[in-house]
Amino acid sequence: MTETDEEKIKKLQEKYESMGQDINAYLDGLLLSNYLTYWDYIHLDTLLTLQNPKTDYPDEQIFIMYHQITELYFRLSLHELEQISMNGKEIGDNGHDLGWRETLTADFLVARLKRINSYFEALTKSFEIMVQGMEKDQFLKFRMALLPASGFQSAQYRMIEISSTPMERLVAKAARVQAGEKDERSIEEQFEHIYWKQGATELATGAKTLTLKQFEAKYSEKLLQMAKAYLDKNVWVKYRELSDADQQRPDLIQALRQLDVNVNINWPLMHYKSAVRYLASKEGDAPATGGTNWQKYLPPRLQLRVFYPELWSEEELKHWGKVWVEEVLAESVTTKSSDG
Ligand code: HEM
Repeated sequence: MTETDEEKIKKLQEKYESMGQDINAYLDGLLLSNYLTYWDYIHLDTLLTLQNPKTDYPDEQIFIMYHQITELYFRLSLHELEQISMNGKEIGDNGHDLGWRETLTADFLVARLKRINSYFEALTKSFEIMVQGMEKDQFLKFRMALLPASGFQSAQYRMIEISSTPMERLVAKAARVQAGEKDERSIEEQFEHIYWKQGATELATGAKTLTLKQFEAKYSEKLLQMAKAYLDKNVWVKYRELSDADQQRPDLIQALRQLDVNVNINWPLMHYKSAVRYLASKEGDAPATGGTNWQKYLPPRLQLRVFYPELWSEEELKHWGKVWVEEVLAESVTTKSSDG
């Protein structure tokens, strides 16, 4: 036995003793247990049973799986957002969880924001799988079996927003306080005016859509709890708690601005592009499964959702999402004529 092995056994003994455990029993367990396999670790068999189409159209599988892929990237983003909000985890040399760190460092914040940005950039790029990757005729058929479900009901998407910015920034444009004024409303009031509740009202009656009612019944309480919990630990608050010098770091400002663009312009625009490709037609646009007035609801230029307005000039805010929208609309005219 080499010196290193002895050292390791000693460390193991210390580890188990510190918890009042007998290392011998654990060594028996190690002798008897099976080797780990990839498929068990990744839960591959379970993962591959999670695609259950509602119709026989083959392209529905693409629709389901791409949504699932997106939700996993959202999960990754939320994992990093939690790390930011809690200052990052301290793990001891022996692998023990030593709890959250006392303070957030600018380096950690930049590194984690960059990760989230890379997830959203992967999603934005891969959205072509939705935009061009299904037969329009199949999509228009199988979507009718999915009513009233809609990606609108993605709770993780709403959680990413809540962890990234103060709630007042998520209030619908028409219900926001004037720039420079303080929003004195309670978190509950702001939540009532959140942009997506306003977006999901039936045009004719002003009543809430069924899609929204069901979403609220399942998630309102959880989202409100989260909004309260993140009042003093969302990304903006964490950034503002850094020293003045750290707040001026160009790489940090760049990472925050990039997050704003990724979540509030680039991803929404690729998503909007799919809606245009599948739902727009010369004969009149198809209604969305979630019942929103999607042509007015989805474009970032009209929503003007901005996580960090302080980091943008007035001029930049005035043109929020515009260039892109024009590009998407221009392409949609071409698509419409080639589809037709
Ligand atoms: C062919 C593909 C897609 C089309 C045509 C489409 C269409 C729509 C439409 C029309 C809406 C507005 C709400 C409604 O009335 O239903 C919406 C919302 C939404 N969809 Fe999709 N969608 C597609 C793919 C996806 C994918 C892959 C995701 C990933 C999870 C997704 C996530 C969302 C989210 C988060 C919203 C809410 C956006 C907001 O509130 O600003 N969608 N979608």
